[in-house]
Amino acid sequence: MASVAPEVEKKEEEEQVVNPWEVSAGKGGIDYDKLVDQFGCQRLDAPLIDRIARLTGRPPHRFLRRGLFFAHRDLNEILDIYEKGDKFYLYTGRGPSSEALHLGHLVPFMFTKYLQDAFKVPLVIQLTDDEKFLWKNLTVEESKRLARENAKDIIACGFDVERTFIFSDFNFVGGAFYENMVKVARCVTYNKVVGIFGFTPEDHIGKISFPPVQAVPSFPSSFPKHFSGNDQLRCLIPCAIDQDPYFRMTRDVAPRIGYQKPALIESRFFPALQVNKYAFSGGQDSVELHRKLGANLEVDVSIKYLNFFLEDDDELERIKKAYKEGRMLTGEVKQLLVTVLSEMVERHKRARARVTEEMVDAFMAVRPLPNMFG
Ligand code: TRP
Repeated sequence: MASVAPEVEKKEEEEQVVNPWEVSAGKGGIDYDKLVDQFGCQRLDAPLIDRIARLTGRPPHRFLRRGLFFAHRDLNEILDIYEKGDKFYLYTGRGPSSEALHLGHLVPFMFTKYLQDAFKVPLVIQLTDDEKFLWKNLTVEESKRLARENAKDIIACGFDVERTFIFSDFNFVGGAFYENMVKVARCVTYNKVVGIFGFTPEDHIGKISFPPVQAVPSFPSSFPKHFSGNDQLRCLIPCAIDQDPYFRMTRDVAPRIGYQKPALIESRFFPALQVNKYAFSGGQDSVELHRKLGANLEVDVSIKYLNFFLEDDDELERIKKAYKEGRMLTGEVKQLLVTVLSEMVERHKRARARVTEEMVDAFMAVRPLPNMFG
């Protein structure tokens, strides 16, 4: 996932650039509405969120209620299938470029865990160690090691081993997966990838040949051990919207090689929490002024984070109101956020410490998923 530099929100450029390797905003931050139109995806609106709640019989995740996941492609088709009593599978992934995952990295996995539990469906998780070898200055061994370390953080999110397959590209690519890769590759011209991803003539061909690797987990036939006999099973991909180019390409190719298009559910960018020390506050310069004028919630970073991480809707409303009316100070809001975040981080750390090497092996074993839809 591309990371957002702290200056992104302030940068004064007319054109925003969003692709898997670069996210830069125009004046006033990322314009998500424009992005949806530019990419041609659909907005995740309230009726669709209600429908998810109705079909799963549980309240929508706060990442849905609070608009973190805000766009989709063909999600309604996935829900139609589910409503008829059929299933689908989930596919997500991570490029293992750092030792441990921070909260921002965990957001898509926390959401995927909710989807798996709510719909009771199988899940494949791709660790693109090859991608990080190609893009970052890492050795093959180091990329593979990071993939395994990252798998521990992912497992700590609570996935069900009976329904989840985690794989490293270096270890898994081959066989039917590779056959699908070359089928995809033959359908995509050089001009086309340049158009989608913005490659330049100086980029090495490893980069240009990578997109099929990320494309084919969208097709169940890439996993013959897991999904044999289920070749038309639909796929839903939760991801940050910077990954959309890969799947635009995938969706374009799919019908030409006899496969179903994957559906997507897409999130906004989640700035790394370290940037919090530069975090913009919507509070006023002095306490007196703040008591009088109150805070500007629109630009306040603590409120933005609380919005995504504080579960209790009523408490969130209470805080927002008090802060806006100047009854609560920036320091107090920040303190609340720190409490909420530390609790989550501590819980994650404890869960990660309980993940053993044997558990990693179990999730990464190539095997039929015994309880796939159970
Ligand atoms: N390219 C992604 C990254 O760098 C990793 C990834 C692979 C992924 N397959 C995916 C992310 C599917 C979301 C969905 O992080």
